Amino acid sequence: MPTPEFISAAECGRWDIYGPIHKGLRLAHGELLRRLGRADFDAAIPHELLGDLRTHLVLAAHHLAHEEAVIHPALDSRAPGAAAGLDTDHAHHQARLALLDSAIGAIEYAAPADRRALGRGLYLAFSTFVAEDLAHMCREEAEVWPRLCALFSDEELAALEMTIVASLSPADNIAFMRMMLPAMNRAERAALLTAMKTGAPAEAYAEVIELAARPTLAPEDLTHLSELGLAA
Ligand SMILES: [Fe+2]
Repeated sequence: MPTPEFISAAECGRWDIYGPIHKGLRLAHGELLRRLGRADFDAAIPHELLGDLRTHLVLAAHHLAHEEAVIHPALDSRAPGAAAGLDTDHAHHQARLALLDSAIGAIEYAAPADRRALGRGLYLAFSTFVAEDLAHMCREEAEVWPRLCALFSDEELAALEMTIVASLSPADNIAFMRMMLPAMNRAERAALLTAMKTGAPAEAYAEVIELAARPTLAPEDLTHLSELGLAA
């Protein structure tokens, strides 16, 4: 199990390519696990929950694909073979995601008498995926990130992240921002939004505030953004 010492002082203050999105994924994983645990599958098919879970799984798959398309080849280009273990983890995750999608479909078409058992099975399967993904993301931040910091400058790490951001559809961009903004602390949120406000078209920035920040943040956090001139 990684300890805080895995991330040395040398990485503090470096470009945090994994941190914000991983915080968002952890929060969203936990929220969906909470909702699945509270769902009464006997009473009715929880269509809204299952739809949200399916959307979340698609976003989780897109996140894996972004790392595979951009970060892993970059890592391999300067440390040949270094991404092999990550690719193995990702292949395992992708298989889990496919199984979870099947489990959701099974509930949607199940006879009422079968729904309780299938709902419990989905809850357990998702909890297992969450456990595996939490360990995987920790490994990336505690072991891979320091390696990336040793191999790449902050400008290069930022360019890798911008390659991923530029590849996002507008819908995915909003969806990932909805995940990330409520998961980070105020300083991190202000830094991210300041960079976005500087670099993105005004309409795109306004959409992030209206569609991602306003629906997900507590009133006091929105006030904090307003005080900084980051939200109207
Ligand atoms: Fe990953």
